[in-house]
Amino acid sequence: MSRTRTALLAALALVAGAAGTAIAAVPDDVGAKAIPCTVDYKVQNQWSTGFTTAVTITNNSAAKSSWAVKWSYAGNQTVTNGWNSKLTQSGTTVTAANETYNGSLATGGSVSFGFNATYSGTNALPTTFTLDGVTCNVDDGGGGPTDPPDPGTPGAKVDNPYSGAKVYVNPEWSAKAAAEPGGSRISSQPTGVWLDRTAAIEGVGSGMGLRDHLDEALEQKGSDQLVVQLVIYNLPGRDCAALASNGELGPTEIGRYRTEYIDPIAAILADAKYASLRIVTTVEIDSLPNLVTNTGSRPTATPECDVMKANGNYVKGVGYALNKLGDVANVYNYVDAGHHGWIGWDDNFGASATVFKEAATAEGATVNDVHGFITNTANYSALKENNFTIGSTVNGTSVRESDWVDWNRYVDELSFAQAFRTQLVSVGFNSDIGMLIDTSRNGWGGTARPTGPGATTDVDTYVNGGRYDRRIHIGNWCNQSGAGLGERPQAAPATGIDAYVWMKPPGESDGSSSAIPNDEGKGFDRMCDPTYTGNPRNGNNLSGALPNSPLSGHWFSAQFQQLMQNAYPAL
Ligand code: BGC
Repeated sequence: MSRTRTALLAALALVAGAAGTAIAAVPDDVGAKAIPCTVDYKVQNQWSTGFTTAVTITNNSAAKSSWAVKWSYAGNQTVTNGWNSKLTQSGTTVTAANETYNGSLATGGSVSFGFNATYSGTNALPTTFTLDGVTCNVDDGGGGPTDPPDPGTPGAKVDNPYSGAKVYVNPEWSAKAAAEPGGSRISSQPTGVWLDRTAAIEGVGSGMGLRDHLDEALEQKGSDQLVVQLVIYNLPGRDCAALASNGELGPTEIGRYRTEYIDPIAAILADAKYASLRIVTTVEIDSLPNLVTNTGSRPTATPECDVMKANGNYVKGVGYALNKLGDVANVYNYVDAGHHGWIGWDDNFGASATVFKEAATAEGATVNDVHGFITNTANYSALKENNFTIGSTVNGTSVRESDWVDWNRYVDELSFAQAFRTQLVSVGFNSDIGMLIDTSRNGWGGTARPTGPGATTDVDTYVNGGRYDRRIHIGNWCNQSGAGLGERPQAAPATGIDAYVWMKPPGESDGSSSAIPNDEGKGFDRMCDPTYTGNPRNGNNLSGALPNSPLSGHWFSAQFQQLMQNAYPAL
């Protein structure tokens, strides 16, 4: 019996950052990068017995007058015909050599070719490519024309900026947290600084502006290393599938986004005064996946997301931000990548990675402007479900068939983030990208936390009885009842993960539970109203939101208290 899978939107994005407490010092994996060549191997189309691939090679070494690229397949893939290269296959090894007309490959130059192939079983991507015998996509340890400066020289980037570094404590958030009963237990944790409108660059009202934060960061840094976490969040037509965080720029205002928002931020970050800070940016929460899941013929589509897809301004805006901010030597860009309860379904997973690649190569950006990706920003997805895995079955039925999992490929955020990292590398992002996971509100502790697996009566009793994530539906995203603080911010907690961070500042609302007039461009989204019975993006369930909430970004004391109460690990 098949169930319909709902493509979910979730998410609102909020973030919080890190605290001035030192995050566990892990030796830096630094090293001058010298990637002699990159091979971007993209499966463009795949059916049950065949596929079409496009390959782009970029040469970062001396110019060539002829070339040959080689890779091997793990399975029985067999090349049948191609274009723009001479293809030969011997066993599992394929060689693509230049045609007479495309043999010359300058330093920094690229060439593309394509082919069709057959396969059965799994079409696993090749993992290693060589160009004229030299391995591509990995650092050869030496210098090269595209190498960033060596670590130790100003502007050098390290592999994981969080390793061996403290993280900036936002004094404004810290003061609000400390003013709450019991709040001093977490008020020195680092949280994200949200540049959620143009005015935030100078400071809204009497609030701190970007320079104020960076000056304070230099104080907190002292002679140590320090990461500052900024959230870049002001796209034209922002939050196209929801209303609570609609922003100030209309769908067509890409020009203002570039010149009034990104350019001034980039100019401040490029000030030599701040060159010793490690500046992490979280780029545009909840934008690009909306183009995949909430457009066109999807039941979850919104007219607003269709507009943003058609005008290309999310892709352009993200590309522009990555390019400009990426030009600053000490900026580490992390692109927002939704969460497993949004893009963990097969239909969304590969397509989202492809859109990220499109944005990362728009408006002058390249994949080298992307240091990594962040998942679960301002969302509530559990980090790790210990009472079942995606491979679990109950009486022969997969947990994927449960109402909760609903055919998703992932049951928790850690497994998703690690797998998505691999997917991103396979579409052409650098093999050393790292992931961040926002654990500010995904703890799900307290008395409702299951202590063991659910009853094996059927998949639903099993999954619902055992899951830590107590949401009514995984598509719910606003001020969730029962949520708790998650893992404290920490560096290099798991393979492929640069850090757990609190990008959404705990205690800041996701949206108001009833309409509140305001001059921030914020709308009233009924997903924040506890009496709302839902829409296709949450399977038409109750919203699970706490009552009496203020506008998104505003302090919500009751939520802050609940998050502390249900913290896991407990405070
Ligand atoms: C709001 C922003 C706010 C952020 C962090 C977002 O939902 O739209 O205004 O800065 O949350 O709390």
